[in-house]
Amino acid sequence: MLVLLLIFRETEGAKKTYGVYDSSNPVKLFIFGDSYVDTGNFVHSESYKVPNGITYPGKPAGRFCDGRNLADYLASYLKIETPTPYAFINSTNMQCGVNFGYGGTGVFSTSIDGPNTTSQIDSFQKLIEQNQIIKQDLQSAIALVNAGANDYTNALKDGKFLNLPSFRDSLVKQIAVNLKRIHSLGINKVAVTLLQPVGCLPVLNLIALRLECVDLLNAVSRDHNKLLLQAVQDLNQETGGQSVFITLDLYNSFLSAIETIKKQRAENSTWMNPLQPCCEGKTLADSCGTVDDNGSKRYSLCDTPTLSFFWDVVHPSQKGWSAIFPLLQSSIGQLITT
Ligand SMILES: *[C@@H]1O[C@H](CO)[C@@H](O)[C@H](O)[C@H]1NC(C)=O
Ligand SMILES: *[C@@H]1O[C@H](CO)[C@@H](O)[C@H](O)[C@H]1NC(C)=O
Ligand SMILES: *[C@@H]1O[C@H](CO)[C@@H](O)[C@H](O)[C@H]1NC(C)=O
Ligand SMILES: *[C@@H]1O[C@H](CO)[C@@H](O)[C@H](O)[C@H]1NC(C)=O
Repeated sequence: MLVLLLIFRETEGAKKTYGVYDSSNPVKLFIFGDSYVDTGNFVHSESYKVPNGITYPGKPAGRFCDGRNLADYLASYLKIETPTPYAFINSTNMQCGVNFGYGGTGVFSTSIDGPNTTSQIDSFQKLIEQNQIIKQDLQSAIALVNAGANDYTNALKDGKFLNLPSFRDSLVKQIAVNLKRIHSLGINKVAVTLLQPVGCLPVLNLIALRLECVDLLNAVSRDHNKLLLQAVQDLNQETGGQSVFITLDLYNSFLSAIETIKKQRAENSTWMNPLQPCCEGKTLADSCGTVDDNGSKRYSLCDTPTLSFFWDVVHPSQKGWSAIFPLLQSSIGQLITT
């Protein structure tokens, strides 16, 4: 099986497969962020309810997805198992790192009662101080940092959108502080995601009848990303021109994966409309997995989750991530080769 997978990996090139691990000297991966990378920390949430996890591992397991998400794809690319969620760490299961990502959280605190990125880094620092993570191991470690989308949604609720430019400034400044701090704790390779095109998310693209992304909203992501790219460039200059910090362009990879799927659909593929979620709450108050007092579903589910790009109204499906991830690999490659 292992040999087969290795051959598969060779021939498939950029396409990813699973189960090829290099356990002799695993690189450690530390993950910070929200539900795009959470693999089990938000215990009392829909991520632990049916139908989440229906594709992988076949039952709910703490991901806001039918299967694997960005954290899993990155870990697999690094030939390691997905790092243990912080909620479940013990003295023997941190050999591939730790995942601090927590659904619904942000750079700043959001309406979710979960740790913001700063608190996630605090937990990381504590593990180092307690020698549960050995400082030496961090030299070859990689960090993945993702967050921001929930900050914008929260700001929208709080009326901070009235002064969007100043909110964006403070958000990106805080992201830069976080990146710098992770590096100062000893990690020499830090990848941060650019914001996905929020106007494509099914929760928002409804106003375009799910036929296209809402460009006016995508502009929020573009403005954010422009500022973040500049901040990352500045950080790299501060660290003497070594590229410690790299960006993963979720913006263009989402757009380009969606375009490709649209084209394939126009030809002969069986993909669902990529702007349509597979699993959707009956009302805005319901999410994928909500049931009423009698246990009846408050959501609808598509026939074949593996043909959807979006799993629910905000998260890509496993198939979605598998289309996005190869488009990030040229950036991710820099984590390993430089
Ligand atoms: C640590 O957690 C793993 C699961 O991640 C479990 O298999 C193992 O028994 C635990 N070890 C200890 C010492 O509790
Ligand atoms: C993160 O959360 C902590 C604990 O709630 C809070 O004290 C802190 O101000 C928050 N940090 C940011 C940057 O919002
Ligand atoms: C149908 O789609 C597959 C890939 O999805 C492609 O390889 C094949 O050439 C297509 N066939 C036609 C007739 O367009
Ligand atoms: C649950 O079932 C009871 C009895 O059939 C019914 O009266 C009630 O309205 C149901 N509740 C919901 C939330 O559907």
